[in-house]
Amino acid sequence: MQVTHELMNEHQLILKYLDLMERYVEFSQTNDNKDLFLQKAQDFISFVQIFTDTYHHAKEEDVLFKYLQAPGVLSHCNPLPVMLSDHEQGRVYTQNMKDALANNDLKTLCDNACAYSQTLKQHIFKEDNILYPMAESGISDDDKIALENEYRQIEEKMDKQAIWNEYEEQYSELESCLD
Ligand SMILES: [Fe+2]
Ligand SMILES: [Fe+2]
Repeated sequence: MQVTHELMNEHQLILKYLDLMERYVEFSQTNDNKDLFLQKAQDFISFVQIFTDTYHHAKEEDVLFKYLQAPGVLSHCNPLPVMLSDHEQGRVYTQNMKDALANNDLKTLCDNACAYSQTLKQHIFKEDNILYPMAESGISDDDKIALENEYRQIEEKMDKQAIWNEYEEQYSELESCLD
């Protein structure tokens, strides 16, 4: 039984958004339409705050991480403090992006978007390759069933299908603006 497969799917959409955001930063530095990223930044911030930090991080912080802390699951080392501090650092960069957008400050917006992207990409690599394999091998089958039920509650509360549809559609729109 796998309890990290869906989280890894979510990582794939997050990574697509990070790559696209980096393309917007590059575009704003090399093209005449320098304000395009300022115009579209709210869409990226919305994805970061709703899909990544509310939906995905709730499943990690409120569910998966809780089961990883059960006795005997993390026998060699505990990466959870680092994972939580990465999430926190991401929130700081996101707030900086919001402030920069409110001030029409493209340079600060770009700097924090790049810092956010780098932090999250490294974080996702650590989860996909270290933390999630630990979860798959360490969490008991009984706990995995209970864990899945807790995921389902979050997915129902936030309407999984609606949130995926909304942000996949938004991705296509954002991508088409760069063509
Ligand atoms: Fe995470
Ligand atoms: Fe994650």
